[in-house]
Amino acid sequence: MQKRETWATKIGLIFAAAGNAIGLGNLLRFPSKVALYGGGAFIVPYFISLFLLGIPLMILEWVIGRFAGSKGHGSMVGIMGEFFNHSYIARIVGSLGVVIPFLIVCYYIYIESWTLGFAFFSLFKKLPQPIVAEDPKLIMMPFLDFYRNYTKPSPYAIVFLTITLFVNWYILERGIIKGIELTAKIGIPALLLMGIFLSIVSLSMNNWKGLEGLYFIFKPDFSRLLDPQVWVEASGQIFFTLSLAMGAIATYASYVKENEDVLKAGLYTTGLNEFVEVLIGASIAIPAAFAMFGASSIPELAEEGTFRIGFMSMPAILTALPFGYYLSFIWFFLLFIAALTSSLALIQPLVALFEDELKIFHSNSVNISMIMVSIGAFLSAFVPKFLDELDFWAGTLFLIIFGFIEILAFVWLFGVENFYKELTRDVFLKIPKVFVYLFYGTSAIFIGLLFYFWTITKLPEYLGELSWNLIIARGFIVASILLIILIAIESKRKYFDQERDDLS
Ligand code: PHE
Repeated sequence: MQKRETWATKIGLIFAAAGNAIGLGNLLRFPSKVALYGGGAFIVPYFISLFLLGIPLMILEWVIGRFAGSKGHGSMVGIMGEFFNHSYIARIVGSLGVVIPFLIVCYYIYIESWTLGFAFFSLFKKLPQPIVAEDPKLIMMPFLDFYRNYTKPSPYAIVFLTITLFVNWYILERGIIKGIELTAKIGIPALLLMGIFLSIVSLSMNNWKGLEGLYFIFKPDFSRLLDPQVWVEASGQIFFTLSLAMGAIATYASYVKENEDVLKAGLYTTGLNEFVEVLIGASIAIPAAFAMFGASSIPELAEEGTFRIGFMSMPAILTALPFGYYLSFIWFFLLFIAALTSSLALIQPLVALFEDELKIFHSNSVNISMIMVSIGAFLSAFVPKFLDELDFWAGTLFLIIFGFIEILAFVWLFGVENFYKELTRDVFLKIPKVFVYLFYGTSAIFIGLLFYFWTITKLPEYLGELSWNLIIARGFIVASILLIILIAIESKRKYFDQERDDLS
């Protein structure tokens, strides 16, 4: 059997986990959602979800990852299996925890490649020339056109997608320590520096008019608290930004040493991610647009679609400043680093599935995974609506479902007593047991409610639509689920053959 790697250093482990969580979710998805749902109205359910769902699930995933990792399993198929006697049903249910990150990375990596492309165009001054005008629409027009042409997709988009796929491939091929950990150790400090720098640039624009943007985001507005859709979106953002309910954190946690303090690791991951989301993420795209284009531009920008907010207004604003093209480069390069360390985390569960469950050698596990990801990524590029359809199902609904399954399985079915033993092993703080009941009880009920809200608010509008593009996207989702389930079943056979061989 191949020996499983473990993170080489504590700081490397924390940076890798932070790199996992910090991504486009923090710098693009969060501002888009905040803008779309009216700033302060979004932020209240957001923080409630952070405490009721985010932190409990984060700790849970670290705990189960450490446990299963010490037994040689890092993908949710193996983790679920390890907790429930490797029964078929456990492994099949666990498949969802490999399918979700896979589906997400299929579009995520495409957006990641835009950031690389736009960084390149900024550096070589190939973005449109900024025009001087009063009307924000006029100023933005050339950048809007540029963005639309680029993502059509233009040949450049395909070239940068290919490069991005190769970069991910290369890093994953180098493995946990020399690949992922090293990338994070360089990437995260750089990301923090660039992020803080750009926050200052944005907030100080137009005589610190950017600060109004912060006021828009953080002024609590309780008027829309009864709107279930805001709750669904806010909690969805918590899952997405913290990389929860999809096995990605648990997979990274499976590479810790057996006595690692996972409580600390979980709290650090959450803290760093929230720092980059509500301080840095909130201080760049929205304040900049506020300062230069005024309040009315914000909802309009967000309507272009989740993740797009930074590709049109930001270059339009930044290139007009002194050293503008370099500022624009820093912005897109920051996004690229953030996205890269996340896409690695989205692919690793698949790699772990092949490696740990099918016992395929590391480099071939990476090869197979990357071929699958490449297919999905090119579909995202060429099939209109593919990206948003995948984000809708895998990036929202599946997370709610799988989050619920995780709490149900690992706390309630596995047994509070058993879970508690793992939770308090080798950690700096022994959480009193009542909190387990309290937190994981509340979060289970909370997710149940979210699921109900989701089905009444979101589902109808989506099921009404049908087109070939959507059929392709949904077909791809179903096919991916079936494939992973098949692997989960097949690998159970293998797993037990191996056991038998080991025994005899
Ligand atoms: N959390 C990442 C982000 O905010 C996305 C991600 C999800 C990464 C799941 C890994 C796993 O962009």
